[in-house]
Amino acid sequence: MKKNYYVTTPIYYVNDQPHIGHAYTTLLADVLANYHRLLDTPTFFLTGTDEHGQKVQQAADKNGITAQEQCDQTVVRFQELWDRLEITNDDFIRTTEPRHKKIVQEVLQDLYDRDEIYRAEYEGWYCVGCERFFTEKDLVDGNCPDCGKKVEAIQEANYFFRMSKYQDWLINHIETHPEFIQPAFRANETLGFLKTKELQDLCISRPKARLAWGIELPFDHEFVTYVWFDALLNYITAIGYKSDDKKFNQWWPATQQLIGKDILTTHTVYWPTMLKAMGVELPQSVFAHGWWLTGRTKMSKSLGNVVDPMEMVDRYGVDAFRYFLVAEMTLGQDASFTEEAFIRRYNSDLANDLGNLLSRTVNMLGRYCNGTFPTLGKTAIETGPEKELWETVQQAVIDMEESINTMRLNNGIASVLTAVRKVNQYFEIKQPWTLAKEGKTEDVATTLGLAAEALRVCSALLYPVMPKQMSALRSIFGLTKPNLEHLRIFGVITAGITIPKIDPLFPRVEQPKEEKPSQPTQKKQTKKSATPQKTTEKQEGIITYDDVMNVKLCTAKIVTAAKLEGADKLLKLQVKVGDETRQIIAGIAQHYSAEEIIGKTIIIVANLKPAKIRGVESQGMLLCASTGDHLKLITVDGELPNTGALVK
Ligand code: MSP
Repeated sequence: MKKNYYVTTPIYYVNDQPHIGHAYTTLLADVLANYHRLLDTPTFFLTGTDEHGQKVQQAADKNGITAQEQCDQTVVRFQELWDRLEITNDDFIRTTEPRHKKIVQEVLQDLYDRDEIYRAEYEGWYCVGCERFFTEKDLVDGNCPDCGKKVEAIQEANYFFRMSKYQDWLINHIETHPEFIQPAFRANETLGFLKTKELQDLCISRPKARLAWGIELPFDHEFVTYVWFDALLNYITAIGYKSDDKKFNQWWPATQQLIGKDILTTHTVYWPTMLKAMGVELPQSVFAHGWWLTGRTKMSKSLGNVVDPMEMVDRYGVDAFRYFLVAEMTLGQDASFTEEAFIRRYNSDLANDLGNLLSRTVNMLGRYCNGTFPTLGKTAIETGPEKELWETVQQAVIDMEESINTMRLNNGIASVLTAVRKVNQYFEIKQPWTLAKEGKTEDVATTLGLAAEALRVCSALLYPVMPKQMSALRSIFGLTKPNLEHLRIFGVITAGITIPKIDPLFPRVEQPKEEKPSQPTQKKQTKKSATPQKTTEKQEGIITYDDVMNVKLCTAKIVTAAKLEGADKLLKLQVKVGDETRQIIAGIAQHYSAEEIIGKTIIIVANLKPAKIRGVESQGMLLCASTGDHLKLITVDGELPNTGALVK
């Protein structure tokens, strides 16, 4: 029997609208859930909203509405965003729902009856922003140790959970279960704190006189429960704790509880001790990821630099947005979000590498195989560059599996992109266009068929991240949802099917003209940026005077050159620009022979929209100097370590 997979996200406060930080945790959970579904693992994915507590009450007061109205209005924004991002959660829990409140009260009553919760007079310091109590010793310069803000002296009766008695047990659990807190350095953070400080009992009540918006304590109607005590329980109330044993036992303990690093203590100290007191097993793993920063600054509403996920999706499409977030962040560490970095990655990974490979493969299948998928010999991948290419594709399969198990998703994605680039290089080695000219039809068929097979495997590996676009890619080759058992098999695409003509899957995007990395608000930047559609309208192989200022000139090495059939003046060049290989059709055949220009390092316009010249795609323009009948290529004086250098 396959092991069940239960993944959770934090439940988000409904005091404000979601930004990309919130979107990220949910997206990560979605990608993980999708991978496990592909593996046929029974999967349950939970997210939701945290609707009680001071933050929500304060937002409601500010907006002049009731706390419940605040919840009902804001929850929709989260739900709409999850729909837009194609999030496939199996349940959405709101902590104001009766199914949750009822069980929270049962847990409270049970713990109170068993003396795990007691009443005491409390005298100490309270941080309103963090909603937490501190002792004199905890304070840093007399202020809150977490947020640094002023604390209030408080004296009141409250209820306390006997958290302190679990200190040694918790240290032992963390030390004997290295997978419990991930990444490992976060476990050390919690351990460091547990080993140097005496754990206090946790105040789990708030007098209604101070805060009424919460779940009432069943044993004292003058109090509501502390928002974290209520919120953490969502992970089990949603799956039937004390209401549906069968469902609960099916999913609990959770496999992966994803959180941001900001809520490590609540999830690795409060939560496990609460479960221990309740006699419930602990989750297998709590994984804390880092922060998304805007540039180098923490994303925060007060700084005006939050990135609105809806805007990004409107501009670039849901899959590109999903791809960027997952590919860009090394799990555990902070990552920086700028629209410039987004566009850079989009253009290089999706437009140039993956999108271009797909276009080339499909176009050549059309041209050289009459738009029909060829029959491939099973031995095609047993030797030579075919073997090498297939091994790289298979390495991506291994790496992706490993990266999911070790929570290093960006490594898995990088490996898939390596395979994609390898196919582009394979085309340069095989030159199917030359093979076709020489009438080597079988060889052409193998080359193009293998490229399509590689695309099939890569699209399956990227499917959990980009379900929409990868479905579109797969449908070109007559494929539906990926079947992971097919990943290691060669020759799955049906011979004889018709390969349709396609539009680019990921049209190139221009960097916004006015963008400067240091601009203060993301919103302002994004308004001015280009869309893929706009790019298409704007570039018709012509650039205006203004555009000259934005022309990207790069060095490129000529790898191959050949006369373009039926055109006296044109040479077809393959040039290397960094890691990328491009095809350029240049009107220089009357000045240079193909042989004499191979190996030269020239200058090309790299951000010119690809255009068809005599039906052949040209992906850039090279620079020449010419007077009357004379023409000379502009070349680079000497060697640089790499091509693709920006010309300044
Ligand atoms: N309601 C609590 C969580 C209760 S869970 C039982 C809470 N909510 S929150 O709305 O503030 O969301 C916190 C979570 O949102 C973080 O832990 C993280 O998962 C995500 N993020 C919010 N801002 C973020 C970034 N800038 N970067 C990455 N993720 C962050 O805390």
